[in-house]
Amino acid sequence: MDAPSPTAEPHGEIVIRAIAMPADTNANGDIFGGWLVSQMDLGGAVMARTLAGSRVATVAIDAMSFDAPVNVGDTVTFYARLQGIGRTSMKIGIEAWSQHYSGGAQRRVTQGVFTYVAIDAAGKPHAVKRGK
Ligand SMILES: CC(C)(COP(=O)(O)OP(=O)(O)OC[C@H]1O[C@@H](n2cnc3c(N)ncnc32)[C@H](O)[C@@H]1OP(=O)(O)O)[C@@H](O)C(=O)NCCC(=O)NCCS
Repeated sequence: MDAPSPTAEPHGEIVIRAIAMPADTNANGDIFGGWLVSQMDLGGAVMARTLAGSRVATVAIDAMSFDAPVNVGDTVTFYARLQGIGRTSMKIGIEAWSQHYSGGAQRRVTQGVFTYVAIDAAGKPHAVKRGK
């Protein structure tokens, strides 16, 4: 997937903002993709739990792309946007945007579509009320 133009804006609402730490680097010294995916998963769950009014489980991750590396010390902001809602499932688009600690423009570094299922105390799917 192409990187967005420099004037592009993030889509969605902020669900997490974090500082990329040295413990989360890969062998190249950049931030490990697994850290980004886990933060995206958590950020999407923040939105999904609010919609479901219950806990949720991640059932699928699609259209994942890594557009640019994240550097240690960057501020990484995760944006979530509801893309679709089924009977028990919610499809949420998540973008991560990175900004140097000294400021300047932020750039999109990853995006993906995460699907969550609303689950009850027994771990069974339950219907999500629409229009929440
Ligand atoms: C999430 C889970 C409870 C769903 O149980 P299930 O028996 O598959 O439930 P269903 O078949 O009724 O599917 C539930 C919903 O998920 C959707 N779904 C299931 N598999 C999917 C997939 N691979 N991709 C997208 N949607 C999927 C179904 O379409 C359905 O949506 P709808 O109700 O809106 O129409 C079960 O799959 C599970 O526990 N998975 C493991 C979750 C997990 O450990 N995640 C990682 C940590 S959170």
